Amino acid sequence: MKVRLLAFCGSARKESHSRRLLAAAVTAARASGAAVTELELCSDLLPMYDGDLEAAHGLPAAALELKALFADHDGFLIASPEYNGFFPPLLKNTLDWVSRPAPDMPAPYAGKSAGLLAASPGALGGVRCLPHLRLLLSNLGVTVSPAQLALGRADQAFAGDGSLIDAGQQKMLDTLVADLIRLTAAIKT
Ligand SMILES: Cc1cc2nc3c(=O)[nH]c(=O)nc-3n(C[C@H](O)[C@H](O)[C@H](O)COP(=O)(O)O)c2cc1C
Repeated sequence: MKVRLLAFCGSARKESHSRRLLAAAVTAARASGAAVTELELCSDLLPMYDGDLEAAHGLPAAALELKALFADHDGFLIASPEYNGFFPPLLKNTLDWVSRPAPDMPAPYAGKSAGLLAASPGALGGVRCLPHLRLLLSNLGVTVSPAQLALGRADQAFAGDGSLIDAGQQKMLDTLVADLIRLTAAIKT
């Protein structure tokens, strides 16, 4: 049975470098035999989390749909931009809403895996945001793969076909994805 990965990115920007890196990872994951669902996050998908809103109305329909979508996958492939050393609010808000309990819904995070990517036009590739994202996902019960890729100079990193120009970086991405698929298969219940 194929490993099922849900791929999403913390930037809603049309020309997002993180989304480009995610797309290259999705290509690698499919080539390695995983079934991948691509999820587009955007700022008007969910309101900013508000406990009063949840108490009055329960979870928004989009949060319930996302909970079901997360639960229906074995692991997550996540690419993030770095905002002042952290991952962006779009990602945090989405992960927070999905973490909220809802009656009779399967667990969205427990027993799942994640592989982490970051991209930035800066030299460090957004590497500083990844420990924070790793910690958040671990707190939610996700097993985060030790491998990660932070792509620096991302504005100059991609070939026309969406692959990484630097063969070494492309190999790192392919290896990261293959490791994630193996990890996901190993912990899949
Ligand atoms: C509020 C804000 C803070 C940023 N902070 C960082 C940072 O800490 N490190 C970094 O490498 N780039 C930083 N950047 C630049 C982003 O890496 C750049 O805008 C990138 O293209 C955003 O990701 P995207 O291309 O996936 O949308 C910041 C951008 C914004 C808007």
